[in-house]
Amino acid sequence: MSILDIRGLTVQFPSRKDVFTASRNVNLSVDAGKILGVVGESGAGKSTVGNATIGLLEHPGRIAEGEIHLDGQRIDNLDPESMRKLRGKRIGMIFQDPLTSLDPLQTIEFQLVETIRLHLPLSKEEARARAVDLLDQVGIPNPQERISQYPHQFSGGMRQRVVIALALCADPEVVIADEPTTALDVSIQAQILKLMKRLCEEKNVAMVVITHDMGVIADLTDHVAVMYRGDLVEYGESKQVLGAPKHPYTRA
Ligand SMILES: Nc1ncnc2c1ncn2[C@@H]1O[C@H](COP(=O)(O)OP(=O)(O)OP(=O)(O)O)[C@@H](O)[C@H]1O
Ligand SMILES: [Mg+2]
Repeated sequence: MSILDIRGLTVQFPSRKDVFTASRNVNLSVDAGKILGVVGESGAGKSTVGNATIGLLEHPGRIAEGEIHLDGQRIDNLDPESMRKLRGKRIGMIFQDPLTSLDPLQTIEFQLVETIRLHLPLSKEEARARAVDLLDQVGIPNPQERISQYPHQFSGGMRQRVVIALALCADPEVVIADEPTTALDVSIQAQILKLMKRLCEEKNVAMVVITHDMGVIADLTDHVAVMYRGDLVEYGESKQVLGAPKHPYTRA
């Protein structure tokens, strides 16, 4: 069964004059241990779908129609407090800029331990041990020492590894990654994508990776959804869609 199931999702941004539909009747699902890529040009509605899933649509956006189910449970109609608890616990998030997720004024240890303890019933010592282990899993060398450093003491690629550790710290069922490698040097991008693929398989997480980069789709994803001006115009196994693209955008 799919862990994440998005059914008929229509998101609208009302303005004074009219209503803009940013996603129209979008149906998507992701299984555990699999990666779904969402691709499309700027403004296609990719982030809108991701943000709706984590309950963080920017004002004045709202879900006009559709349902979102997490492991069989409907989550699009949860109250804000329940949704806040679910975010970070059952759905992890990775954004383009690591500094969206990391506080520059706090050590990596503080941030990881705080997030772990927010979601899991662990002591400070246990949470710290878990944090060191996570940093090790995402490929940070000398995690015992580096955990006490601040975000600016890490390179861009290493910072994004910390963000990945943060997204995984409560063992989520789903991770939503919005342009996770766009801000990184090309040479680093491939390493981060490889890491995400490995962790997705090892931890049996369902991942949604939002990107405008067909290379990312080809290297990383099992399935791909192509969005165009709010519509889902192609959806299927990545190999098939990339091998025989139907929509002009995918072909280009
Ligand atoms: N806060 C907002 N207020 C009004 N309209 C918005 C808002 N956020 C998004 N939109 C509208 O929804 C459309 C889709 O936005 P979205 O961010 O989902 O696109 P995207 O596919 O993620 O693009 P990009 O690749 O540039 O990140 C935008 O073009 C914009 O018209
Ligand atoms: Mg976007």
